[in-house]
Amino acid sequence: MSIAIYPGSFDPVTCGHLDIIRRSCKLFDTVIIAVLNNSAKNPLFSVDERIELIKKSITDLTNCKVMYFDGLLVDFAKQQSATAVIKGLRTISDFEYEYQMAQLNKKLNANIETLFMVTNANYSYISSSVVKEIASLGGDFSDLVPKEIYEDVRQKIEKGR
Ligand code: COA
Repeated sequence: MSIAIYPGSFDPVTCGHLDIIRRSCKLFDTVIIAVLNNSAKNPLFSVDERIELIKKSITDLTNCKVMYFDGLLVDFAKQQSATAVIKGLRTISDFEYEYQMAQLNKKLNANIETLFMVTNANYSYISSSVVKEIASLGGDFSDLVPKEIYEDVRQKIEKGR
């Protein structure tokens, strides 16, 4: 059975993430969406909120689940018997950063492969930060996040204003 991990902060999940999740689900028996910590970031949404938003966005997908892990990505992958980590690539700068991460993760655990998936061009300009910025300035971000979570994101940002 092939198991892949799709890791990220998902603060919040976007249409770009969902595109990678859907395509990954066609390639692997099971895809585990892993909400992990990026020590360089201070998330707006709590872990539970981020998990809930992802779950709401993937109700039609039967071979994927969401989990949280507070540690190294490679340790989580090993714990879940996953053989691959999927990363979406939007730009050349993504590649430079992700190449370094892939090498680092390979050094930490040589059995875990990083697979890069090119982001759909329609979503190449999206990031979680862009969503939060547009939302906080009252702009229309309905094309950027799954429709099931639009209202949750809008309300959270409205509360924080
Ligand atoms: N479509 C749209 N946006 C995308 C995207 C896609 N396909 N892929 C990534 N993005 C966005 C993300 O939303 C994020 O936006 P933001 O910077 O505004 O928050 C940005 O691109 C960067 O994404 P990513 O590179 O996946 O970073 P991340 O912070 O979401 O996740 C972790 C990084 C959590 C996977 C990484 O820090 C990690 O593995 N942490 C665990 C500890 C560890 O093992 N560290 C490595 C060894 S030191």
